[in-house]
Order: sequence, then C-alpha cells, then structure tokens
Amino acid sequence: MPELLNPADPDFARDPYPYYARLRHEAPVRRVALANGTHAWLVTGYRQAREVLADPRFSNVPAPRAGRPRPVSAAQQARACLARHMLNSDAPDHTRLRRLTSAAFTPRRVDALRPRIEELTGQLVAQVAGRLEREGSADLVDAFAFPLPVLVIGEVLGVPEADRAELREWTYRVGSPADALAEGEVEEAWTALHGYFTALIAGKRRAPGTDVFSALVAESGAGALDDGELLAMAFLLLFAGYETTMNLLASACLLLLTHPGELAAARAGGPAGWAAVVEEVLRHASPLEGTTWRRTTQAVDLGAGTLIPAGASVLVVLAAAGRDPQRFADPDAFSPARYLPGAGDERAGAHLAFGHGPHFCLGARLARLEAAIALPALFEALPGLRLAAGADTLPYRPGLLVRGPRVLPVRAG
Ligand code: HEM
Repeated sequence: MPELLNPADPDFARDPYPYYARLRHEAPVRRVALANGTHAWLVTGYRQAREVLADPRFSNVPAPRAGRPRPVSAAQQARACLARHMLNSDAPDHTRLRRLTSAAFTPRRVDALRPRIEELTGQLVAQVAGRLEREGSADLVDAFAFPLPVLVIGEVLGVPEADRAELREWTYRVGSPADALAEGEVEEAWTALHGYFTALIAGKRRAPGTDVFSALVAESGAGALDDGELLAMAFLLLFAGYETTMNLLASACLLLLTHPGELAAARAGGPAGWAAVVEEVLRHASPLEGTTWRRTTQAVDLGAGTLIPAGASVLVVLAAAGRDPQRFADPDAFSPARYLPGAGDERAGAHLAFGHGPHFCLGARLARLEAAIALPALFEALPGLRLAAGADTLPYRPGLLVRGPRVLPVRAG
C-alpha cells in the first residue's frame, strides 16, 4: 500500500520534515497516494534527487490531458497559456527559451542591481522601524519579506509599483491547492494574471522601458519569443522570482529570531557570516519544498529495486534532500557554521535548494544577493527584534511547492 500524503493538512505544512524523514528512511524514492486520489513518486534522498534532476528521462512537460475535457472556461484557457513556460519544457524548446532569458541574468546585470536593492531595503527597514515605534509590533512577512522581492522583481519586469499587491494575491492563489481556498478564487486569479500580462506586453511594445522584460519583448520575432511565450515568461519570472525569495527571507528571519546565538555569530562574522546564514537557511528550510513535477518518458530503474514505470508523476522533494543524513551531518540542526569558508573538511556540501541540472535556478545569484543585503540591514538596524508569537503556532502555506511562514509577528524587544 502506498503511503498517504495530504499536502493541505496544516500540521504537515508547518513541519513536513518528520514525514519526509520517515519516508526517506523506508525508501529514498517512494510511491505515495495523494489526498486528491492520484499517485506520485516522491524523491527524498539527496543522491537520488540529483540523479533525477539531471536525467532527461524525467520530463518537465506536464502530462497530456488525454481523456480530460479541453480547456473551455476563460480561467482554464488562461492557465494553459501561462503554463507554457521554460520550466514546463524539455530540450530543445527549453534550451532556446533558457538561452534567450539568461542573457538578462548575467552576473554583471544582476550585480548592477545592488545599489537599487540596498536603497529599497533601507526604505523598508525604516518603515518597519517606524511601524514598531508607532504600533509596538509588525508582521515581517507583510512589511519586509514580501515587499522586497516584489519590488526587485518588479524592477526586472518593469511592473508599476501600484500593481504589486494584486500580483502577490493572484500568485499566492494560483500556487495553492484548489481545495485550500474558497471556490472560484483560483480560477479568478488565473484570468486576472493573464489579462494583466497581456496588457503589460502591449504597453511595453508601445513604450519600452529600460527593464529586462522590455528587452525580451523588443527581441520577440523570428527565432525569439512569440507572444504566448512572452506571456508565460512574465508569469514564470514573477512566480519564480518573489514567492521563493519571500520564503527565504521569512524563514531566515524566523530561524535567526529563534536562534539568538546564531544571530550574534552572523553579526560578528561580517559578510562571510551572513553568506553562511543564507546557505544554511536554503538547506534547512528550502523555500521550494519540491521542484515542479516530473514525468517519466519511459520506465526508469534507479537501482536498489526502485523501478518507476513510464508515465509516472515524480516529485523531487528539495526540502527532504537538504536534510538527508547521508549527505549532511546533524541535518535537522540549524548551523550556519557548516557553510563558513573556515569550516575546512567539515564544510557542508552544496544543497539543492536552487535545483540541479538543466533547470537550475536562473535567479540564484539575484536571490542570494537580495538575502545578503536584506538580512544584515534588518538586524543591524533593529538589534532588539523579538518574535511576538510562538514559532510553532505560525501558519504555513499549504501544498508541496513553496514553503515558508505566512506571517511573522515581531516586536521591538
Ligand atoms: C530563494 C529564492 C529562490 C529559490 C529557492 C529558487 C529555486 C528554484 C528551483 C529549485 C528551480 C528549479 C525548479 C525545478 O527544477 O523544477 C528554479 C528555477 C527557476 N528559477 Fe528560481 N529560485 C529562487 C529565486 C529566483 C529568482 C529571484 C528568479 C528570477 C528573477 C528565479 C527564476 C527562476 C527561473 C526562470 C527558473 C526556471 C529555469 C529553467 O527552467 O531553466 N528564481 N528556481
């Protein structure tokens, strides 16, 4: 009998690690039954996760909708359109889309965002400080971890600031399991996102900006991105760019507030200390709990008696791979020192929080840069920050894709 897994269960969302540890212990690649009645293979071992992510027999193209009704409603059509992005494609399509987009994400281009990120961070920290002074408490997700990545990805996409709160809400909804929200809310969000990006592209054709996305729009034509691909690309950059970084910042704040010794060590350790915190948060609290779904194009023998049939749905659980005791010593401990350059032979190996293989995160450098600026700025300006709620009472977003606390109430100490 396959194990049962209910991603909408709030207790599982808050702390899925004991479940994953048990699963990995039984078998690092294991078939489970999902609460919606379907079956899937979960990859929880580090070595197996790397293997699967680099193996072209695991396709990123979503399963054909054979036997299911064609998309008829506006929401279904919008969803199908926005889903045609490179994370949902295999070579050679993926190679072409990735090549065109990576031109925008060169290290030089990303590093050039530093002064703007510092400026935006400074403004947000001042607002958090002001709110704490006036009201005595603040929600760090709402006031800090959410707005910073949205502002930064907004710069990359050239999205007006006034539109960013709506985008957050729609993105949140389309990433949630349909049964976790009120009826119609997810459908409404797909339609709204489609309409918004169609208008954004038209606007950029009329009046291109200096942003990365304007450059992609201007390039569209023979061999480059067509209109449908541009639409899906905008959605992917938005969705991949801030929901993940928001969770990285929120989980980092939570871990530092609940581990004051590690916070003190980071403050004493300068840039290397903060960089180690960022790597350890990525490993310990992977902002993407799982990758996107893979599907086997043929039967795959992963050894040790694991035979995945053709056409099976496979989820690589990055959060579980980061806690694999075969790869990381004392994996459940939050210990940034394992990523310090001076850790020598004891230095921890690479985590998989940014994925692996052809779909390795395009925004990894940007995400690291944001976190390395944001965390010291916040904790240097507000050294007395304290959590204003029990860490184990905080709500987490349901589902298997992204993971992080949804609210983080703090007071000034
Ligand atoms: C902490 C923040 C982030 C994390 C943890 C993260 C993680 C990941 C992971 C695990 C993948 C691979 C998913 C898979 O194989 O199914 C991925 C892909 C991707 N990420 Fe990120 N990401 C982050 C931030 C960003 C940012 C800031 C951007 C862009 C502005 C971005 C853009 C992308 C894109 C475009 C892809 C698809 C690449 C492809 O299909 O070739 N990500 N990310």
